[in-house]
Amino acid sequence: MIEISNLGKYFGSSKILHDITLKIEQNEIFAIVGHSGAGKSTLLRCINGLEKYNEGELKVFGKEISKMSEDELRYLRKDIGMIFQHFSLLEQKNVYQNVALPMQLWGYKKSEIDEKTEELLTLVGLIHKKNSYPKALSGGEKQRVAIARALTLNPKILLSDEATSALDPKTTLSILELLKTINKTLGITVVLVTHEMSVVKNAAKRALLLEHGEIIGFGDIESLFLKPDEKMRKFLGEEDILPNYGVNIRLYFPSTISDKAIVTAMARELDTDFNIVWGRLEKLGEKVVGSLVINISETQIELVKEYLKTKPEVIWEEL
Ligand SMILES: Nc1ncnc2c1ncn2[C@@H]1O[C@H](COP(=O)(O)OP(=O)(O)OP(=O)(O)O)[C@@H](O)[C@H]1O
Ligand SMILES: [Mg+2]
Repeated sequence: MIEISNLGKYFGSSKILHDITLKIEQNEIFAIVGHSGAGKSTLLRCINGLEKYNEGELKVFGKEISKMSEDELRYLRKDIGMIFQHFSLLEQKNVYQNVALPMQLWGYKKSEIDEKTEELLTLVGLIHKKNSYPKALSGGEKQRVAIARALTLNPKILLSDEATSALDPKTTLSILELLKTINKTLGITVVLVTHEMSVVKNAAKRALLLEHGEIIGFGDIESLFLKPDEKMRKFLGEEDILPNYGVNIRLYFPSTISDKAIVTAMARELDTDFNIVWGRLEKLGEKVVGSLVINISETQIELVKEYLKTKPEVIWEEL
């Protein structure tokens, strides 16, 4: 649905995006994650043709964006809705008028506009506020109006640029639920740009990690978070403080076994104790994954390794 290969982008003489290659599939929720200034918004704006790129290819619905005329781009943007951190609602217009606006600009009939506006305001749970003005709405409600407005022209893709960054955690969750519902029931592909890992873990199936305009991680959420490589750990701000005696082993529990007491079973079966250095369980969408670092005395290590070999579902490494 979105195919990017070896994309490069400059602002003046500074290179902002380096060699970006990725494919976003139809109907998925894909996250682009990175710290401020990483180039996330720029990449998103390349996807809907608001920003030009200097190298590589970018195809949406099989068509190269850089080869499109302004008119073709206008039609492309009809198929790509977008929402932003600060909602971008018109303060002088009420909720109904804000949602109706794109359809008015495209010359839809009044009856069509009324029907679609009612339908979308019902979907986002704000039909009772249709005569309210933005200043009378909470942040979460404003974002719901912006989402309804982004869906009026029946887009196939929804781009979300930090849409939850100005919201409190509870409201963030409710907006993510709405985006998931839209993805599922309307079959809309969602590209989420965010700097919040909690958003990625909650909503996305796959993610791209961007740092200084370069891809430093790419893949499905479970493998990115279950066994993060060194770059990813640094990105997440995780640094292990490990005992300098014995042997440290990190165990990874995929979602299929994260709730089972592997370590206590191992301690019981081997009739020994381990020091637990640290551990965590994380919720990725509906799944739970975990990792645990244990410290084992030199005399026990062979025994433990033999035991772990009999448990192929547990991934582990010596640190
Ligand atoms: N129009 C522009 N002209 C020149 N430089 C720009 C322009 N837009 C963005 N940049 C630069 O490009 C880099 C990437 O910016 P971008 O807005 O894409 O980052 P971002 O990852 O979205 O950051 P944030 O999380 O703060 O929104 C930054 O260094 C920024 O200063
Ligand atoms: Mg940005």
